[in-house]
Amino acid sequence: APAPTFETIAFTVEAIRSQLPDGLKNPRVGIVCGSGLSGLAASMKEVIEVVYDDVPGFAKSTVPGHRSSLAFGFMGDNQKVPVVAMLGRFHPYEGHSLSTVVYPIRVLAALGIKDIIITNAAGALNPGIKVGTVVVVRDHLALPGLAGMNPLLGPTFSSTTPRFLPVSDAYSPALRRLVFLAANELSIPWSDFAEGTYAWVSGPTYETPAEGRFLRAAGADMVGMSTVPEVLAAREAGVGVLVLSLATNMVVIPEKYRSIKEEVEAELLGKIVELPVEEVVSHEEVLLIGRQKGEMMKRLVEKIIDLIPAS
Ligand code: HPA
Repeated sequence: APAPTFETIAFTVEAIRSQLPDGLKNPRVGIVCGSGLSGLAASMKEVIEVVYDDVPGFAKSTVPGHRSSLAFGFMGDNQKVPVVAMLGRFHPYEGHSLSTVVYPIRVLAALGIKDIIITNAAGALNPGIKVGTVVVVRDHLALPGLAGMNPLLGPTFSSTTPRFLPVSDAYSPALRRLVFLAANELSIPWSDFAEGTYAWVSGPTYETPAEGRFLRAAGADMVGMSTVPEVLAAREAGVGVLVLSLATNMVVIPEKYRSIKEEVEAELLGKIVELPVEEVVSHEEVLLIGRQKGEMMKRLVEKIIDLIPAS
């Protein structure tokens, strides 16, 4: 399919707005709900849901644990903020092109969002980050992006799009501050939070031990298969970005390899060999932690939106 242009986006925006009441036509904040985190939108009021199948230009999302719709509504106690949440996102591993993956982000930007809160489930590479921790992302490592899979490759998106987008400041310090202020207001234990660097990989395979070790050595704290293309498209459009990564599993990086050579040798010498338990990651485990931490993340996101300065 040809890459979507500014004009296709405008068409999509009109199609969506025609289904919305006036108060929701210009959402202020976007939210992307990661694996098992579609419940983030549960605290929205006066919700209008637009299913992806009905949105021109949107692909079909195929991952279990992800819904497939845009939910428009109001969030917040102190202020009534119009927001739009993506329940389900598109990933390159589903076979979608990067332009398809970032299409919804460009649509949200064209709808007028000023800030976006992107959530994901990710594996922890940093042994100091426990499963269940919310990692406030402050930097990223985009291996596919460095190697030719960057969603901004190609003609610039519009006449005002910078050709060479700086991304050293991609993760808004002002928005990151709000996470900790919100956590404090909600009395969520400080130990439930960390800050770190997210490594984007294409997936769909989880990492080998060598790959996990490689990413850790390169400075990454977390690894996941989403988010970074969305961050780049949001920054291209001038949208403020906050990324929250929920650590759903530890990436398996054994300190030493099991030696089959030594095991067989010992066996041949008549010794009793205790075989190690070999760990693997599963999608079920990822979804389970999402469900366990979903309520806390929901309250957190709601409070952050309450604290976002109106503009
Ligand atoms: N690796 C990559 N992506 C992930 C992981 C992981 O361990 N956990 C959740 N998403």
